[in-house]
Amino acid sequence: MVRLLALSLLVWLFIVCSSALDVSYDSRGLKINGERKIIMSGSIHYPRSTPEMWPDLIKKAKEGGLNTIETYVFWNAHEPVRRQYDFSGRNDLVRFIKTIQENGLYALLRIGPYVCAEWNYGGFPVWLHNLPGIQLRTNNTVFMNEMKHFTAMIVDMMRREKLFASQGGPIILAQIENEYGNIMGSYGSNGKAYVEWCAKLAQSFNIEVPWIMCQQGDAPQPMINTCNGWYCDQFYPNSKNSPKIWTENWVGWFKDWGMQDPHRTAEDVAFAVARFFQYGGTVQNYYMYHGGTNFGRTSGGPYIATSYDYDAPLDEYGNKNQPKWGHLKKLHEVIMSMETILTNGDRRDVDYGNMMSATIYTYQGKQACFLGNANWNTDFTVNLMGTNYKVPAWSVTILPDCFTEVYSTAKINNQISIMEKLPNEADDEKEPYELKWLWRAEHPEHLKHGPVKGSVMSANKLLDQKVVTNDTSDYLWYMTSVDVTKSDPLWCKKVTLQVKTKGHVLHAFVNGKHVGSQYGLYNKVQFTMEKDIKLKLGTNTISLLSATVGLANYGARFDEVDVGIHGPVKLIGDKGSKEEVVKDLSGNKWTYKVGLEGIEEKGLQKVDSRHSSGWKTYNLPSNRLFVWYKTTFKAPLGTDPVVVDLMGLGKGTAWVNGHNIGRYWPAYLADQDGCSISCDYRGTYGSNKCLTNCGNPTQRWYHIPRSYLRDDDNLLVLFEEFGGTPLNVKFQTVSPVTICGNTYEGNALELSCQAGSLISEVRFLSFGNPKGSCGAYEKGTCEASNAASFIKKACLGKESCSIEVSENVLGPTGCHMTEKNMLAIEAVCHQQFY
Ligand SMILES: *[C@@H]1O[C@H](CO)[C@@H](O)[C@H](O)[C@H]1NC(C)=O
Ligand SMILES: *[C@@H]1O[C@H](CO)[C@@H](O)[C@H](O)[C@H]1NC(C)=O
Repeated sequence: MVRLLALSLLVWLFIVCSSALDVSYDSRGLKINGERKIIMSGSIHYPRSTPEMWPDLIKKAKEGGLNTIETYVFWNAHEPVRRQYDFSGRNDLVRFIKTIQENGLYALLRIGPYVCAEWNYGGFPVWLHNLPGIQLRTNNTVFMNEMKHFTAMIVDMMRREKLFASQGGPIILAQIENEYGNIMGSYGSNGKAYVEWCAKLAQSFNIEVPWIMCQQGDAPQPMINTCNGWYCDQFYPNSKNSPKIWTENWVGWFKDWGMQDPHRTAEDVAFAVARFFQYGGTVQNYYMYHGGTNFGRTSGGPYIATSYDYDAPLDEYGNKNQPKWGHLKKLHEVIMSMETILTNGDRRDVDYGNMMSATIYTYQGKQACFLGNANWNTDFTVNLMGTNYKVPAWSVTILPDCFTEVYSTAKINNQISIMEKLPNEADDEKEPYELKWLWRAEHPEHLKHGPVKGSVMSANKLLDQKVVTNDTSDYLWYMTSVDVTKSDPLWCKKVTLQVKTKGHVLHAFVNGKHVGSQYGLYNKVQFTMEKDIKLKLGTNTISLLSATVGLANYGARFDEVDVGIHGPVKLIGDKGSKEEVVKDLSGNKWTYKVGLEGIEEKGLQKVDSRHSSGWKTYNLPSNRLFVWYKTTFKAPLGTDPVVVDLMGLGKGTAWVNGHNIGRYWPAYLADQDGCSISCDYRGTYGSNKCLTNCGNPTQRWYHIPRSYLRDDDNLLVLFEEFGGTPLNVKFQTVSPVTICGNTYEGNALELSCQAGSLISEVRFLSFGNPKGSCGAYEKGTCEASNAASFIKKACLGKESCSIEVSENVLGPTGCHMTEKNMLAIEAVCHQQFY
């Protein structure tokens, strides 16, 4: 025990007192203590998971062959109110960087402070927009002072904790601004002045690690400009002294409400990475390695979904997304084995024509080769130094000794996992699932009576939503009244209420009665609502509730994009007829109220809400607007990630034990069209390629991090905005249940279940010439008869097993084919509860 303590003290001392690193660079790559390194990095955004998840995510990244983790810094998460800071929980940046350090990895810190990232308002706090005289991301003193204040604070925080490599910490690269080059043109000479100011600001921090500016073709020296995209092999930095860095290798794509699920194949991601290294790249970062979840109100937009899975190597919940995770792990092993020669060797490219090429690196008498075929549909056989190699279309073959084919981006030789959702074993009544629900109405007085006290402000015009709310809530009430007398031209006419809004969701009430709800689309945010209404003699109240679904995060002057009801708001009598009369209410006195009564005043979402009375058990409403629901549930057993299935609900927000797990909107169906049953990895990827989930809810399952759950009863609270039923709500776990692998002779096949699960069954197994794919394998014409018993012995009852695929081990197949023998297995993982 004493020895163990001493050992861990030593480890601790090593971690805490690790020595300063000298980080420099030249045209070939980053140099750490003078030695050129390959940086294999992946993005994990700390607020998109929980501190309890971080160690596991980072370990899986390391196991997957990464040596670096990248993150942005999220200004609006840290400074929600000017000069009031939050670095707690998911926002604990220092803890995140230290977790990276404890795992022996480097960190890439992209301070921004603009981050895009499909994150609310691109990471800017909305109060910034509301400062007098400000203009964001340009040569504007008010903005530059705020930016300097925040970035200096982050740098100081990192320095105080000794987190820069120059101090012995993990941070080897830092970024200022973000993709500014994409939109700089529209800021004219002020944009150019701003970029130069950014570069000077960064240098003034003296952090002694290099700075980068991504997508900044004119990055002032010594800022290194870097590439973001699906492919960056043809990118070259703007200085002969800068290395070729790929800051964002998009492994998939994000999803907005209404979009199908985007996928990018493992073969194509591997192809893009291999091409990048073939053509002299030495630093690359997966965007995302773990995408995670847009908890709370953090999703950008408008209309970015709550899941930020991104089809990343680790899925939203932190599970290995196989085969992608494993296929890239193997690629990393090969590339890292060639580190010295790739970063120091002489490079020679050979063009065979037809987009077929070879690249030969030579260093100290050794050689390493790449064979690249960028043709979309033609396989080629080429001769390299006297040997013929077949290179499939859209693939790279890597030969670390220019002779042995060790890796082909087109040949997947590792596990495929099929994720399944399993019922909550902790609950006695599984099927049909019966939770006991309580409900109450969101019943704002102002709905019935019009403008009330407690309203934040009034004005004789329509105001921009984010200006009034500072984005402290999704919701803003716009309320006015109209007096109608018998002499009013509108009286006795058919009246239409017409509201033009800049988005994102609108609910309209006249005299306390709901007259309509409407919302826009990701690429069509503005819309007009027209509803027939009935006016009465005397005072009529018009209450419009406008809701945001994430503020814009990208584009030139995205920060200035209007949101909410900008009008006009009109009452139109006998619309379209010759007697049409129009009363424009835009200049009326409008009273504004921020937020919902249930959240802001009653705190119904909280565990310790003082308003625990007033909830009803009877007459549970369905398809009713503005209803609060709550229930308690037992946490599923085991360690697998937990989700809640919200099928049946409309749109709203969900809280578990007081934690806001994000906006839900299962009623928003993904586009019907554009899905493909099969997905060809060949050819240039785009976000519309390889879509699934057409016509289903955009997002049906919502992640509940394990650390939000307690062993006894847990509280789920829903605010339902459109109307739906909670009666189908289920709590489930997500894990790979069916696992498969098919591998040619000469490789090892590794199968593994999630921690806590064991291989309980082998559903299919054949070593010979089996056909088909995971879930649909078929035996071929020949196979080794003893393979099954050998493999069952090696795998059944184990968390993982590794099988050397060869006739020596598995017995003769008797196939006598020109192709190599293949092993295909389909097995089942079963969770163990202790
Ligand atoms: C940048 O702003 C400063 C201060 O407002 C101004 O003096 C200067 O001319 C601006 N630079 C450019 C290139 O417009
Ligand atoms: C919004 O922010 C501005 C500037 O910080 C402040 O004056 C105003 O009171 C805030 N409004 C709300 C509703 O919080």
